[in-house]
Amino acid sequence: MEQDTIILPTLREKETELPAISGNIMEELKMVMQQSQQFQEMMMMYSCAIREVRTKAEVLNDEMSVRYHRNPISSISSRVKKPESITQKLYKKGLPFTVEAIMTNLSDVAGVRIICEFVDDIYTIAAMLAMQDDLKLIKIKDYIKYPKPNGYRSYHMIVEIPVFFSKGKTPMRVEIQIRTIAMDFWASLDHELKYKKNIDPQDEETIAGELLSCADRIAETDMIMQQIRMKLDAVKEDKTKSEIVLP
Ligand code: GTP
Ligand code: MG
Repeated sequence: MEQDTIILPTLREKETELPAISGNIMEELKMVMQQSQQFQEMMMMYSCAIREVRTKAEVLNDEMSVRYHRNPISSISSRVKKPESITQKLYKKGLPFTVEAIMTNLSDVAGVRIICEFVDDIYTIAAMLAMQDDLKLIKIKDYIKYPKPNGYRSYHMIVEIPVFFSKGKTPMRVEIQIRTIAMDFWASLDHELKYKKNIDPQDEETIAGELLSCADRIAETDMIMQQIRMKLDAVKEDKTKSEIVLP
């Protein structure tokens, strides 16, 4: 006897034209994922990986503050991606809702944001992190040298860091964003614009234009501030030299 076969399109085939996920499905998936022991364990592992990266950044900051009498890092924030955002991303990428799919395909479940005062500090911190031999550099996106068309600037690194659990060592991926205070201020306003769903398209275009011009001015200001910093550093060095030379 012949049976009717229902062929379901795979999510990947539908990637270009995705229907909106209904609230109920999202809620159910969120519940299933949250309840699963394996999922909770994975989230715990990501938050431990965040702690490892934060500690590395804090150590570098402490060392530099003793050595150069200033803190290159002004603040560090971090987050583990929300279950609903993980679900959305898996769905968009046509991936199964499994812990394995998350751990192999998503690089931003764990995120650490390092805010520096000066642009040079961003590159110093990035280089110092990259040279640590327990940290594997997976990807770099330099949106400072190559800003996004909307004006977004930031230095992104995807790293893999080993975390030691009772079962052994697990390499965990963490997304690190490093930017100046000014770039961060800009990004938070830009982020707000992205999430205003009911905004009039005309207003959106105007604001996007204003943000772009702000981004350029911020980049210029960051550069001038950097030059002032260097001039001040040079003054300090001269003073030390004269202290040593004079009897
Ligand atoms: P996602 O899939 O969104 O994570 O992006 P991606 O994989 O292409 O990586 P990318 O490095 O471009 O962006 C990673 C993260 O950087 C985003 O999740 C945001 O937090 C931040 N980001 C990237 N572009 C912008 C932007 O234009 N504005 C703001 N405010 N943040 C951005
Ligand atoms: Mg992301």
